[in-house]
Amino acid sequence: SQSASTRRGALIVVEGLDRAGKSSQCEMLREYLSKGGNAVKYIRFPDRTTPIGQLIDSYLRGSANQDDHSIHLLFSANRWELAKSIEQDIASGTTVIVDRYSYSGAVYSAAKGNPTLSLDWAWLPEIGLPRPDICLFLSISAEEAAKRGGYGAERYENETMQTRVRELFRSLFGRQEDIAVIDAGKSLEEVSIDIQSVVADCIGRLDATGPLRTLGPLAK
Ligand code: TMP
Ligand code: MG
Repeated sequence: SQSASTRRGALIVVEGLDRAGKSSQCEMLREYLSKGGNAVKYIRFPDRTTPIGQLIDSYLRGSANQDDHSIHLLFSANRWELAKSIEQDIASGTTVIVDRYSYSGAVYSAAKGNPTLSLDWAWLPEIGLPRPDICLFLSISAEEAAKRGGYGAERYENETMQTRVRELFRSLFGRQEDIAVIDAGKSLEEVSIDIQSVVADCIGRLDATGPLRTLGPLAK
């Protein structure tokens, strides 16, 4: 149980397109925080290990089809089923690093161009989830992305989707707070140092920030 003096952990989200370097940066950040004496945990969405996550995995690998709205809500449900455990970790003083979150959830679904699946519609089921203290968006240009090599075999890993996703991330981030855009076109080490400085600043402000908050609606 939590003592009154336990400082809460931070909720840190890392977002970006495929090949932006999310996984490497999450690992380097985990090491940095843990060397600094912080309790830290890494999780990623989709979490493919749960029953809902297995449905998502089949969909992404192409072995199952789903209605666009239905799969969208499953991605969201996959976050909701882990929300309590995230809240508990944060309350007990553990900093949680999350590889993809609601931002990916909204933009990838909206990027499909389904006329009844707008960015605004896609955001709604995210409202009330634990709100990140900071979302680091690892930004790489289309040219840099192309240089980093071919796409994988999963659904969404193609040029058309990635271009729309890039644009939608931009418009979403204009409508949410606590977003830090990181130039991820630099070397791994340079990017890592930029991330460390943003995260150190965020953790330094936690007492003033107060308890973990919840995600709210998109600004107009
Ligand atoms: P991954 O490559 O990070 O495992 O993510 C798998 C794919 O799922 C990736 O193309 C982004 C997409 N995605 C969604 O469409 N909705 C979501 O809510 C999340 C977390 C990921
Ligand atoms: Mg992928």
